[in-house]
Amino acid sequence: MWDLWRRHKRKVYVTLGVFGSGYLLYRLYDARRRRLHDLKKQLADDRENEELIKAQVQAHFESVQRIADSTTLPHVMNLLDIRLADNLDLTHFTERLIQGKGQPNTLTTTEKLELWDRLKTLSFTKMVSSLWAMTMLSLYIRVQVNILGRHLYIDTARGLGSSHLLDEAELIDRNDEQQFLACADYLSNYGLLALISNTEVATTEVLKGKQLKDFFNVSVLHDTIIHILDTLMSNGSPHHWVGYLMPEDAGVYKFVAPSSNTSSDISHATKFELLMGETREVLSSAEFGNIVDISLRSVVNGVLEDISLQCGENNLMSGMPLAKLLPRIAQTGQLLLKETNRSRYIHIMRSIPEVELFFTLLYSTSRTIPTPSIV
Ligand SMILES: *[C@@H]1O[C@H](CO)[C@@H](O)[C@H](O)[C@H]1NC(C)=O
Ligand SMILES: *[C@@H]1O[C@H](CO)[C@@H](O)[C@H](O)[C@H]1NC(C)=O
Ligand SMILES: *[C@@H]1O[C@H](CO)[C@@H](O)[C@H](O)[C@H]1NC(C)=O
Repeated sequence: MWDLWRRHKRKVYVTLGVFGSGYLLYRLYDARRRRLHDLKKQLADDRENEELIKAQVQAHFESVQRIADSTTLPHVMNLLDIRLADNLDLTHFTERLIQGKGQPNTLTTTEKLELWDRLKTLSFTKMVSSLWAMTMLSLYIRVQVNILGRHLYIDTARGLGSSHLLDEAELIDRNDEQQFLACADYLSNYGLLALISNTEVATTEVLKGKQLKDFFNVSVLHDTIIHILDTLMSNGSPHHWVGYLMPEDAGVYKFVAPSSNTSSDISHATKFELLMGETREVLSSAEFGNIVDISLRSVVNGVLEDISLQCGENNLMSGMPLAKLLPRIAQTGQLLLKETNRSRYIHIMRSIPEVELFFTLLYSTSRTIPTPSIV
């Protein structure tokens, strides 16, 4: 027996060893399998959560977008229209010129030239500042909406984490978010005078050599407008134009908003500042600068199409004296912001692929919510 054992000891040990480690392996495998199962289940739960979040956020985002489109944008554009008309009223120039025409001796030649010169500068100033303001405001509001959407996403994700679904109304009705959207009025209320005066400086610079008798065709008019816009954007420090759209320091910028006295005021103030800070960061980015450039150019083309139509297409193609074009330019500055016209220009902007891509990325890339760790 011992002999047998001694002879086969190795074999037995090896066999036992194989079975033993087999069992161990099985135990390990089983544990792993079970963990894998748990993991899969958790992944499925996460995915389900994520789907829920996505659906919720989509609904929130659409509601914010709707509010922005149906309420914020029209309100802001109408206010801008009124303020622009108040601050750049050219009627007394044209009236005096018409008067001078009817009664030849009421204006001296110098006075007439001066009036025409002012009319030349201010017509372009009005048109370009309207065009700039409309384009930038609609981009600005879209930046706001996307940043707000992103915050809604994060808040919704957090809400889901504690298995508590946030009320849609609760999210958008909050004071800080309203204040944030209300900031779109900043240009009309505060930034406009600086915009107008700097546009006038740029216009004067660009139109210096242009005479009233010079012939303007579509391409000359196009180049002139683009030149004024480029001068406006590049005069001054980089991104100085952000200052027309939003306050330098969000903290000191107070709105006439229903403010309560609760302890949450502090967190609202900081949330508001956070949103404003993010907006400023986006506006100052090179990518946004690129979007601004593309958008302004597209809107200029749209406006030129309309002016061409109004002048009679052939007239502006072959060219007309600047003096004859000026009333059209001034009128365009006036009508650009009216509902149907601006909708058309905003639609033009919204169909630029680069612009759409920019906003898609702005909304989606920053969706960094902490995902629960799974291993
Ligand atoms: C417009 O006028 C400019 C200068 O007068 C001329 O060089 C250009 O060819 C004209 N463009 C068109 C499209 O007629
Ligand atoms: C604001 O808070 C102060 C002190 O905390 C209190 O005396 C005051 O009544 C509050 N005002 C309102 C409008 O709630
Ligand atoms: C803008 O709207 C007015 C009417 O509101 C219209 O007469 C005009 O042709 C439109 N287009 C432009 C470029 O002004």
